[in-house]
Amino acid sequence: AAPRLLEGKKVIVTAGPTRERIDPVRYVSNFSSGKMGYAMAEAAARLGAETVLVTGPVELEIPAGVRAVHVESAREMFEAVLAEFDTADAVIKAAAVADYRPKTVHSGKMKKQEGDASIELERTTDILKELGKRKSHQCLIGFAAETDRVEEYAKGKLERKNLDFIIANDVTNPQGGFGSETNVVTLYGRDGSSEPFPALEKKELAERLLSRIFGGGRNDR
Ligand code: PMT
Repeated sequence: AAPRLLEGKKVIVTAGPTRERIDPVRYVSNFSSGKMGYAMAEAAARLGAETVLVTGPVELEIPAGVRAVHVESAREMFEAVLAEFDTADAVIKAAAVADYRPKTVHSGKMKKQEGDASIELERTTDILKELGKRKSHQCLIGFAAETDRVEEYAKGKLERKNLDFIIANDVTNPQGGFGSETNVVTLYGRDGSSEPFPALEKKELAERLLSRIFGGGRNDR
């Protein structure tokens, strides 16, 4: 059985995409299935943590022993995470949060017109960056989904968002990224450590990541 490394700890995990409404029938979103985040939540609960899963709209079952908070938009995810943050020991942000949302949300269905159309977008709040500013004792763990210059961009996010760890995935790898059962990642720590993981089922990978982050080895905390 897994050692209960996270006994007595409260862990928030975010998972899935966010949906940013255009009108009552349309939205802007991405291809996150929630599998990586749900696997992280399941692993955290198995390691004994009080686990809160803040989840965007996905088609997965809530893992045993996990408390779920369902959200739709980046704004709702931010509010849900903030509500749990002060009492949390760690936050794991596997969600693919929209960086932009439509500036205007139409109250009625937008009508088709002659010619092209465009939607003006505005920035959403960077949830993790806000947590990085507010953190006191919390361990902050981000994910970085990149298509190029993976290490450079991931390390940039680790710094800019004031994180303790970042888990970088090259989402162009056919064995990893959005929607797949497996993932291929490298874990970077604030102390300069880096550790590549082989292609693994997301559930297996989640357990190994948490054991590495909370359990010792080079990333002992
Ligand atoms: O859900 P799956 O289909 O299993 O796919 C898994 C995954 C590819 C979605 C996952 O492994 C992953 O990489 N998640 C992070 C995706 C992402 O949005 O990365 P990013 O590089 O854009 O963001 C960096 C970090 O900042 C992330 O931890 C993200 O949650 C966070 N963020 C981003 C934008 C924002 N407005 N607020 C945030 O908190």
